Amino acid sequence: MEDDRLIVHTEALTKTYVDGSLIRALDGVSLGIERGEFIAVQGPSGSGKSTLLNVIGTLDRPTSGRVVVDGTDVGTLKGDALADFRRARIGFIFQLFNLVPTLTALENVILPLLPYRRGLPFDLMKRGRELLASMSLGARLHHLPGQLSGGEQQRVAISRALINYPRLILADEPTGNLDTTSGEEVVELLRQLNNEQGITLVVVTHDAAIASRADRVVHLRDGKLVDQGG
Ligand SMILES: Nc1ncnc2c1ncn2[C@@H]1O[C@H](COP(=O)(O)OP(=O)(O)OP(=O)(O)O)[C@@H](O)[C@H]1O
Ligand SMILES: [Mg+2]
Repeated sequence: MEDDRLIVHTEALTKTYVDGSLIRALDGVSLGIERGEFIAVQGPSGSGKSTLLNVIGTLDRPTSGRVVVDGTDVGTLKGDALADFRRARIGFIFQLFNLVPTLTALENVILPLLPYRRGLPFDLMKRGRELLASMSLGARLHHLPGQLSGGEQQRVAISRALINYPRLILADEPTGNLDTTSGEEVVELLRQLNNEQGITLVVVTHDAAIASRADRVVHLRDGKLVDQGG
């Protein structure tokens, strides 16, 4: 039986790498995340934070254990079905923004759905423009990433993460490359998306400002969940 309140549910996740010696990047992680929660994931470098996020986001497969996202055991999905699932349900935000340098802000935002635009129930260009406007970037639609500040680039990346109306956003050190002021703006934006739209946020961070704004902070050490918060 799956619990309907949970948008993410992991059971005894392990991820091991054989790299000279055996590395347990994840070592028995069982975690439930409720719909609408804003969770911060903290822990020392190498403790498995990015690995956990990537496994939840179906970008990486666990060595053993189960990941259920929105009622679907993602271990049962392969190839196109997995990519379709990810594109329909999940938004990602990265530390280094991961914008395409030769595309404008608007082009970057709509890019993930561009190949599918004909089948969408909404106007992709209009959605992209509205998202950027909501991030105070309405006057920067046609700028290239290199012509934008770090904080502006991250707001473009957040707009891109929102293009598919995700119910779940996964962010890996989203303020890691920003100065304090831009970082605080990004934290506020994330908090607002969570409060106003009920989007579930899982944010890996060293940033005390993010942790203090989250509903719950979970701690990883040596691939183990040492504190579930809450
Ligand atoms: N592809 C890989 N091959 C071998 N080892 C890996 C690989 N990816 C990650 N690891 C190891 O798994 C462990 C967890 O890595 P992970 O990137 O999840 O840590 P992290 O908590 O995100 O660290 P940081 O705060 O530095 O980003 C580390 O010991 C890392 O070296
Ligand atoms: Mg990491």
